[in-house]
Amino acid sequence: MTYFPIFIPFVASCICFFICYTQARLHNHHHHHSHHHHHYHNLHGHENKHMHLSPSNASYKCHGGDGIFDVREFGAIGDGVEDDTNAFKKAWECACQSQNQTHPPLLFVPHGYSFIMQPSIFIGPCQSPLIFQVDGTLMPPDGPELWPKNNKRHKWLVFYRISNMTIKGIGLIDGKGQQWWNLPCQPHKGPNGSTLPGPCDSPVAISFFMCTNLTLQELKIKDSPHFNLRFDRCISIHIESISISTPTSSPNTDGIHIGNTNDVQIYNSVISNGDDCVSIGSGCYDVDIKNVTCVHGHGISIGSLGEHNSWAWVSNITVRDSTMKRTKNGVRIKTWQGGYGAVIGVKYENILMDNVRNPIIIDQFYCPTKQCLNQTSAVAVSSIEYMNIKGTYNIKSPPMHFGCSDSVPCRNITLSEVELLPIEGQTVLDAFCWNVYGEMETMIIPPVYCMSDGTP
Ligand SMILES: *[C@@H]1O[C@H](CO)[C@@H](O)[C@H](O)[C@H]1NC(C)=O
Ligand SMILES: *[C@@H]1O[C@H](CO)[C@@H](O)[C@H](O)[C@H]1NC(C)=O
Ligand SMILES: *[C@@H]1O[C@H](CO)[C@@H](O)[C@H](O)[C@H]1NC(C)=O
Ligand SMILES: *[C@@H]1O[C@H](CO)[C@@H](O)[C@H](O)[C@H]1NC(C)=O
Ligand SMILES: *[C@@H]1O[C@H](CO)[C@@H](O)[C@H](O)[C@H]1NC(C)=O
Ligand SMILES: *[C@@H]1O[C@H](CO)[C@@H](O)[C@H](O)[C@H]1NC(C)=O
Ligand SMILES: *[C@@H]1O[C@H](CO)[C@@H](O)[C@H](O)[C@H]1NC(C)=O
Ligand SMILES: *[C@@H]1O[C@H](CO)[C@@H](O)[C@H](O)[C@H]1NC(C)=O
Ligand SMILES: *[C@@H]1O[C@H](CO)[C@@H](O)[C@H](O)[C@H]1NC(C)=O
Repeated sequence: MTYFPIFIPFVASCICFFICYTQARLHNHHHHHSHHHHHYHNLHGHENKHMHLSPSNASYKCHGGDGIFDVREFGAIGDGVEDDTNAFKKAWECACQSQNQTHPPLLFVPHGYSFIMQPSIFIGPCQSPLIFQVDGTLMPPDGPELWPKNNKRHKWLVFYRISNMTIKGIGLIDGKGQQWWNLPCQPHKGPNGSTLPGPCDSPVAISFFMCTNLTLQELKIKDSPHFNLRFDRCISIHIESISISTPTSSPNTDGIHIGNTNDVQIYNSVISNGDDCVSIGSGCYDVDIKNVTCVHGHGISIGSLGEHNSWAWVSNITVRDSTMKRTKNGVRIKTWQGGYGAVIGVKYENILMDNVRNPIIIDQFYCPTKQCLNQTSAVAVSSIEYMNIKGTYNIKSPPMHFGCSDSVPCRNITLSEVELLPIEGQTVLDAFCWNVYGEMETMIIPPVYCMSDGTP
């Protein structure tokens, strides 16, 4: 929905979190010092309630001479009840410090176990490329009541300053979002269907900050309390064959959000959720989205951009060979009035629309509260290509909507082989245009009479 440029506060809270966390562990350490024996060989982990990081003595034994860091060998139990956070922290530290140029260290989360993780930050850089293999299930504390009280709540798992890592596996990241979606600050979840004042602060399942060259493969993520995956200030992100699933009614559960991130590939994935399937914020460029299926939710969005008169830049985005099923929008660009900057060079190609409410939409009057003032500046939208976009739309709104700023028209919009038919009945709705310039290279269905030729 709405994205905040929270980077600086984020780093502050990261560092604070890390320090608070470490101090809590140190505190534990003193209490349990006498129990400090043979933990790290205890595969079944009976004694591992007393496990703790020992920051004053980093010399606890790092298993994994074979390059495999199995969280159970670090004390994780995986019964879905015990808190496995410490074991993950230790396994991470060992894997991250491990140097093996020939075989990337493998941080291993075995199949058949459910691990409970408190909100945690995995901090890099690491010594070697890492593989984080999740074959089991990872879960956070179930709901706001069980969330640690001193924690800012915004994030569950955070990866910070990590390079050259692959996260993959046949496992499941289960965000346990149900109670967060039903908080009284969520839309219509208050008493008698009201919405109590927020913010709800529901945590993002997995966030990446300042990471480079990451690969995410195969993972299944479900029921995130808020965004499922969020990338900020990252470079070179390769996402392939993942699936994300949250209910249609779950608020703010964007599938993948990227901001200030470039060189991104999102391939062969299925996202079914209650908000944007993929959302692309300011500062993103060189993004390639291919063979992604979006189900329910709000489609693939660029924006929202330009809120609070901010400057935004998004360029060189491709979305191709993808399917939108019963989504609210298909491919959308949304900007607030009063912003600056540009969206330049977006190509939507080979997109199948299946019963989509707004298959093609540019909305430069984005205003969810419906209480925005008219302003003259706008994030300029230009060189947008729509090629081979076919399928059906829900007749509640026009299949094509180009609502461009009064003062900054949309330019160089190209349509070719666009054919959108009503899902039912004979009513063919006209396209909507406001201050949009471009051309049609083939016959378009329905015909777009309202677009102005040439340049303004
Ligand atoms: C660190 O741990 C090792 C092995 O457990 C022990 O031999 C060593 O004395 C400890 N060092 C400190 C500074 O506590
Ligand atoms: C590197 O990993 C390989 C395979 O896991 C292992 O056989 C080898 O011992 C490791 N080398 C070092 C130096 O840890
Ligand atoms: C990216 O990381 C992979 C290992 O995950 C490594 O093989 C590759 O060389 C890295 N690429 C760059 C450009 O650093
Ligand atoms: C990532 O991998 C590349 C290529 O192997 C290497 O040049 C670079 O130093 C690595 N980055 C980090 C932070 O380890
Ligand atoms: C909910 O609505 C009922 C009936 O209109 C009313 O009696 C009750 O006080 C309302 N509850 C709250 C918390 O507003
Ligand atoms: C597209 O992605 C789906 C998974 O969502 C996969 O099964 C299919 O093979 C992919 N198609 C191509 C052409 O790669
Ligand atoms: C646009 O992005 C693609 C990757 O998605 C990249 O290969 C291409 O070079 C970029 N084009 C320009 C002009 O930068
Ligand atoms: C903004 O402009 C539109 C169209 O000119 C007009 O209908 C609307 O009343 C204006 N809104 C405000 C808040 O001035
Ligand atoms: C118009 O957009 C196309 C891509 O759709 C681009 O190749 C062309 O350079 C743009 N023309 C202008 C004048 O910006």
